[in-house]
Amino acid sequence: MSVRRAAGRLAITPSLTPRSLEKRGTPARAWQARIITLFPEAFPGVLGLSLTGNALAEGLWGLETVDLRGFGLGKHRNVDDTPAGGGAGMVLRADVLGRAIEMAMRGVPEDRARWPLVCLSPRGRPFTQAIARDWAGGQGVTLICGRFEGVDQRVIDHFEITEMSLGDFVLTGGELAAQAMLDATVRLLPDVLGNAASVEEESFAAGLLEHPQYTRPADWAGCAIPPVLMSGNHGAVARWRQEQAEALTRARRPDLWAAYLARKDRDPSA
Ligand SMILES: C[S@@+](CC[C@H](N)C(=O)[O-])C[C@H]1O[C@@H](n2cnc3c(N)ncnc32)[C@H](O)[C@@H]1O
Repeated sequence: MSVRRAAGRLAITPSLTPRSLEKRGTPARAWQARIITLFPEAFPGVLGLSLTGNALAEGLWGLETVDLRGFGLGKHRNVDDTPAGGGAGMVLRADVLGRAIEMAMRGVPEDRARWPLVCLSPRGRPFTQAIARDWAGGQGVTLICGRFEGVDQRVIDHFEITEMSLGDFVLTGGELAAQAMLDATVRLLPDVLGNAASVEEESFAAGLLEHPQYTRPADWAGCAIPPVLMSGNHGAVARWRQEQAEALTRARRPDLWAAYLARKDRDPSA
């Protein structure tokens, strides 16, 4: 079913049919993202560029949007209402969002470890590289992009939705957060990055921030590349990089540094 109505010079076409954004169709077993949003036109956004975009075009992963407006009520397809108890703003309605979630979760594994159902929210658990790795190891994820003051709590409780935050700040909507989390996840899928080693060596992979990087020219603005990196001595380069990674982590992220030391204490070979 598709509903079309004119709004001034803009025509909006909310639809109950999920929209697939990959160009060639994704093999059934490819990792899938489903996004419930009031702004399906925001996708694939940056995910359509570069490595994630190429991988989407090649069917290494799939992206589907579910237009929340299509589930809205009445002539104006309303999706929100005033907060119970009063206060500023509007809240996404439980009945409207509930129907969209049922559509978005059709046919997905019941085991949430294999296919998480997540609502983007500043109140949620902070998103990390470890969560990106978990998601990439499953079959897909369904992300709900909130707007206004957020979503009716009963939906979160009823569907046992995990709330996930991009950081301690408030965005206008969940779409940017969804794209950031999907970018971090999709690049970990097999064959998406050309050079798999870069995933193993980058920030957070071993619990540390990454060492500084340099490239040509060897001298720039009176600054030379650290001589050890030009020495051709691979052992010395590896030691220098490890020392730099440790120093940076200790200085910038005491939380990561403490976790790294604790892990080393438990398992010195880690
Ligand atoms: C204006 S915010 C709502 C903020 C909410 N009233 C609060 O104070 O927690 C609208 C939507 O943007 C998204 N959002 C905002 N900040 C976010 C963040 N840090 N991480 C993930 N999603 C966020 C969520 O989907 C949220 O429902």
